[in-house]
Amino acid sequence: MKKILVIHGPNLNLLGVREPDIYGRLTLEKINSMLKKEAKARKVNLVIKQSNHEGQIVDLIGHAKKNKFSAILINPAAYTHTSVAIRDAVAACGLSVVEVHLSNIHSREEFRHKSLISPVASGTILGFGAKSYTLGLAAILDLI
Ligand code: DQA
Repeated sequence: MKKILVIHGPNLNLLGVREPDIYGRLTLEKINSMLKKEAKARKVNLVIKQSNHEGQIVDLIGHAKKNKFSAILINPAAYTHTSVAIRDAVAACGLSVVEVHLSNIHSREEFRHKSLISPVASGTILGFGAKSYTLGLAAILDLI
């Protein structure tokens, strides 16, 4: 069975209570169970991680191929806009990487308009709330 790595970046552990008008009321647990249900139906295995630490995310991406993952679904959260290290890890990892965002980063503050990750990702899905994740997973399943 193929394995997909799902990475949630900083502060996404707070979904449900964090700025619900922007990010919705679903908790991360709920989003993860939606993803797991979808993965089960499509007969793929998901390993889901959340980290508030840039280096940990770099390590997860950097070890993904060696750990036999076929692709990565990532919401880099605030690191989207700041992390050259995560961008370089994505570029180097040798796997398809789909970037997702709950909110439409282009309709928000100017500092969110630029993603350092998008140019090195296979594709980006944003602005559909929790659905961005299930659409992202569907895109990955088409890619692998
Ligand atoms: C986010 C958008 C980012 O700008 C923000 O820092 C997040 C979440 C999203 O999913 O909409 O933490 O990645």
